[in-house]
Amino acid sequence: MADLIVGIQWGDEGKGKIVDRLAKDYDYVVRYQGGHNAGHTIMVDGKKYALHLMPSGVLYHKCKNIIGNGVVIALDALYEEIVQFDNIQNRLFVSDRAHIIMPYHQIIDRGREKSLINAIGTTCKGIGPSYVDKVARSGIRIGELKDMKALKQKIQLHLGQIAYLQDLYEIQLPNHKECMWYLEEYAPKILPFVIDTTQMLWRANDEGKKILLEGAQGSMLDINHGTYPFVTSSTTTASGACSGSGLNPKQIDRIIGISKAYCTRVGNGPFPTEDFGEIGELLRQKGGEFGTTTGRARRCGWFDALSAKYACNINGCTELSLMKLDVLDGLDEIKICVAYKNKGMVIDYVPSDLDGCEPVYKTYKGWDKTAGIRNFDELPQNAKEYIWDIEKLLNTRISIISTSPEREDTIIL
Ligand code: GDP
Ligand code: IMO
Ligand code: MG
Repeated sequence: MADLIVGIQWGDEGKGKIVDRLAKDYDYVVRYQGGHNAGHTIMVDGKKYALHLMPSGVLYHKCKNIIGNGVVIALDALYEEIVQFDNIQNRLFVSDRAHIIMPYHQIIDRGREKSLINAIGTTCKGIGPSYVDKVARSGIRIGELKDMKALKQKIQLHLGQIAYLQDLYEIQLPNHKECMWYLEEYAPKILPFVIDTTQMLWRANDEGKKILLEGAQGSMLDINHGTYPFVTSSTTTASGACSGSGLNPKQIDRIIGISKAYCTRVGNGPFPTEDFGEIGELLRQKGGEFGTTTGRARRCGWFDALSAKYACNINGCTELSLMKLDVLDGLDEIKICVAYKNKGMVIDYVPSDLDGCEPVYKTYKGWDKTAGIRNFDELPQNAKEYIWDIEKLLNTRISIISTSPEREDTIIL
């Protein structure tokens, strides 16, 4: 059976820490969507690892790491990560069905962002344009690297088809020779890792192996259910774990939603609880809220119970992992958004457009210190009450609480 880790906010919830913390009990860890827009941080004994494409099971030598068919892969970015790890050859497997992020995708991403009045604030890694080509059925799959001759022709044709974008976005796309250089340079470096990972996962499942599916981004960035158009271009919610790995819904058991004890967002788009004052700045500094991938300052605010509940329902979360509780240490009071005011009405659900929704808060008493606590009973009473109220508001059990970036500073209930 497989268990699933999925972000229930706007990404950067701490998925990497939890996948790493749990991975020692799993045989496989699988990334199934997104690309190197993700930045998953793991901290072990003070040493920090920032992963972008590499699944977060990579620190355990017995764990096999799979990059599934739903991921979009920049070959150079993947290679850069591969060389950082020893003995990776029999521990990393890349789906032959995964799509390639070509150098032109990154340039289109940047050009499009510049041309928009309301830019999305993408990571400019070429994620969106690569998924556009996939859906338009003109993408290039990793398996195609095995036939350079056919690729040569395909790229020629494709470059002709997208040439109009140069005038539209005032960009210079790489030429045929440059694209072929990229593919020829990286094909021999990546192909040794490429196999049919769908078959591999089915076999593993039949043999009773334990599989952990690692989501990237967060539910509010989902292409269907997020704050469109300010979203990423993949299915970041639980259903993406099936379409992006080849496993079926019956093979998924636990669905663990990951959430911070407050809220952040990076990039543009609505964020009802965003705090532009002291609290926002305090959370940013204390929580180290600067992007792992782009270094951008993350927007910060109080926990939003409405969007979190919405995400729990969309994903079917069986449980939750509440992260970064320690960042709230020392505050006199803490707030949770329990309703929105929208066009003169108070609503208790997430509408299709969050723009203009103002938060209605419930206030909680603060606590002194939770940092580094590994046992629930040792948490201050007010922190326990905060946790219990989140469980009630989201109607979902909290099974993991994280009290520092370190792997072992984790309460498992
Ligand atoms: P991901 O994208 O969901 O994997 O999250 P990121 O790694 O981008 O961002 C989460 C950040 O919070 C990282 O810097 C983690 O090291 C850090 N972190 C995770 N859990 C905790 C926690 O419980 N307390 C604190 N203070 N930091 C944490
Ligand atoms: P992890 O896996 C937070 C955001 C970008 C932008 C929007 C679209 O670390 O949680 P894209 O480059 O995907 O087209 O950008 O999505 N975004 C993330 N925000 N964490 C992430 O990943 C993100 N990946 C993309 O900032 O707003
Ligand atoms: Mg991140």
